[in-house]
Amino acid sequence: MIIAVVGGTGWQGAGVAVRIAAAGHTALIGSRDVERAKSLAEKLPAALDLPAGLFDAATNEDAASRADIVFVTVPMTAHAMTLEAIKPFVIGKIVVDVTAPVNPKNQIENLWPPEGSATQQAQAILKGVADVVGALKNISATALFNYKKPSNCDILIMGEDITSKHRISSLLREMKLNSYDVGSGEICRTVEGLTSLLIYLNYAYHLRQPGVKIAQIDPGLDFIPTDGILPGT
Ligand SMILES: NC(=O)c1ccc[n+]([C@@H]2O[C@H](COP(=O)([O-])OP(=O)(O)OC[C@H]3O[C@@H](n4cnc5c(N)ncnc54)[C@H](OP(=O)(O)O)[C@@H]3O)[C@@H](O)[C@H]2O)c1
Repeated sequence: MIIAVVGGTGWQGAGVAVRIAAAGHTALIGSRDVERAKSLAEKLPAALDLPAGLFDAATNEDAASRADIVFVTVPMTAHAMTLEAIKPFVIGKIVVDVTAPVNPKNQIENLWPPEGSATQQAQAILKGVADVVGALKNISATALFNYKKPSNCDILIMGEDITSKHRISSLLREMKLNSYDVGSGEICRTVEGLTSLLIYLNYAYHLRQPGVKIAQIDPGLDFIPTDGILPGT
């Protein structure tokens, strides 16, 4: 399968491209400048011990047009205009929106769009054209680059269409990433807001690239609240 990464020359996009190639798909790196994309597509295989034939390069529009699935990994400030640029080339496709609305000038602040979140903005722009799934909002590029190990972070995925979410969830599994479907566009603001929270934790506690992990209570706990203890139960 050919999978495009629009804005794929940044850290997050390159990390996504690495996991796509490691899963055996063609990672088509998109950029506004095809030479930047080519340079990265040439460097990544040797740097990460992956076959060169699994990387390719194109302009963002060309990448979107040639791909079966399109990831978008651009800063919030470029989000709407990038989606408008690829819109004619994603008809009937799944667009995976990775963009988090973090303010590039102050990463613990968010630049919320009027639609509510980045993924809701993508859904509005691509309405009737492509199905938008929000994913990979909280995982660090460093975790993505380390493709040889399954990540210890979970991926929260959002969107309206259950079939598209299943397709992306199984692609993420091929990329050694475990995901949870957490609902529709409505939940995106909550999930995207976690990215700036994680960046804050990174700075405040010197954590190494924190991510999201859905935890259950310890199965060894002795006391599990049951009916009959609280009044009226
Ligand atoms: N980095 C992380 O660890 C991480 C983690 C979670 C979520 N995210 C989210 O993932 C997205 C990408 O992150 P990143 O760190 O990879 O970002 P980035 O390096 O700032 O940007 C990614 C690419 O977007 C393109 N771009 C930049 N400014 C643009 C503009 N004004 N117009 C059009 N294209 C522009 C550039 O590609 P060309 O110049 O080649 O066109 C750039 O290489 C962001 O929304 C970020 O919040 C990042």
